[in-house]
Formats: sequence, structure tokens, C-alpha cells
Amino acid sequence: MGPKDDFPEKERFSVSRRDFLKTAGVGSLATAVTAVGVAEAEAQTGPRVVGPGEVPVSLMVNGKRLDLKIEPRVTLLDALRNRADLTGNKRVCDRGTCGACTMIVDGRTLYSCSTLAVDVEGKQIRTVDGLANGATLHPVQQAFFDHDSLMCGFCTPGFVMATVALLEKYPNPTRDQARHELDGNICRCGTFVRIMEAALSVKGVARG
Ligand code: FES
Ligand code: FES
Repeated sequence: MGPKDDFPEKERFSVSRRDFLKTAGVGSLATAVTAVGVAEAEAQTGPRVVGPGEVPVSLMVNGKRLDLKIEPRVTLLDALRNRADLTGNKRVCDRGTCGACTMIVDGRTLYSCSTLAVDVEGKQIRTVDGLANGATLHPVQQAFFDHDSLMCGFCTPGFVMATVALLEKYPNPTRDQARHELDGNICRCGTFVRIMEAALSVKGVARG
């Protein structure tokens, strides 16, 4: 016999039924209101359905408008690398763990391998391809070069973008701030010490 078997059958039933009805009444009312709201909204505008075929997508990338036709399932990284020849950011893990694909969207870093291109229409997208001014490197790129902060280089574009975002947020970051802002990026070659030296050496990066 378990503990609940000590209650008389009638009392056990009436208590649990009252509680059940109170909860179910509130719950079903909320569900009904929500369902009516959704149904009314859909009756007026219809659900937004795109794809599965290619659809037109307009992206603002490095200050220029880019008109593409892509399937809605295509990631921002693949859209830019495969359809726009912007191959600076690399695809390494392709699952949001390494940071090699880091871009800056509306001032914040994100993993472009884990972001659908259709979801960033109308936003300002910045990739590593847009940092240099002609033959003049961006100060962060120059710092990575000067401090020899790369080996194979696959992680470098992501680290550079994360460092740009760091310096736009904290023009003179502390070591802890730099560590925190760069902790979404991994270098398999282990150049972390030099990446940190480069990041902390750059001063006065203007907001992009
Ligand atoms: S390629 Fe996007 S996080 Fe690794
Ligand atoms: S330099 Fe090779 S992964 Fe970072």
C-alpha cells in the first residue's frame, strides 16, 4: 500500500476533482482565447508561408544591397559564400560551436552558419570581406598580422569579426572583457595568447 491508499476513496476523488476543474477551467479558457486570437489573425492575413523553392531575398551586406534567389532553408553563411562570392568567413563546424563564421548583424555578433538568410532581411550585415579599405587593412586585421595571431587561419575571420565587435563595444577593453566577448570562438591551432595580444593592442576602433 502506498501513502495515497490511506485516504478514503470519496475524499481523495472530490479534492482532486475540484482542483482539477479549477485548473482545467482557467487553462481551457486561456487556450480558447488564444486559439480564437490566432484563428482571427490567420483569417485576416493568412499564415506567412515561404518556400520550399527559391524565393527572392534582399540582404544589406557591407553597406551594399544584395538581391538573391535562395531557398528559405539556406543559411546566411552559405548564401554569402555560395551565391555572392563573399568567402572570407569560413564554414568549419557548421553547427554553431566554433565561431569561424562569425558576422556582425545590427551591431551584434552571430554565427552565420546557424542563421537563416531570410531571417536577417532588412538588417545590417557585416562580414570580414568588408573590413579592409582597398589595400589598407582594418586595424584589427593589421593587429592580427603584426602579432602573428594565426596558424592555419580558418578561425581567423571569425576571431577578427568578434574582436571588431569587442572594440566597438569597449574601445579599451580589459583582459576579462576581451576574454568574455571572444569566448564564442575557438582556435584549434591554439593561438589564443597571440589573439588576445592582438585584440588588446588595438585602440580607437570606430563603430562600423
Ligand atoms: S562554422 Fe559556424 S560556428 Fe562553426
Ligand atoms: S589558426 Fe588554425 S584554427 Fe585558429
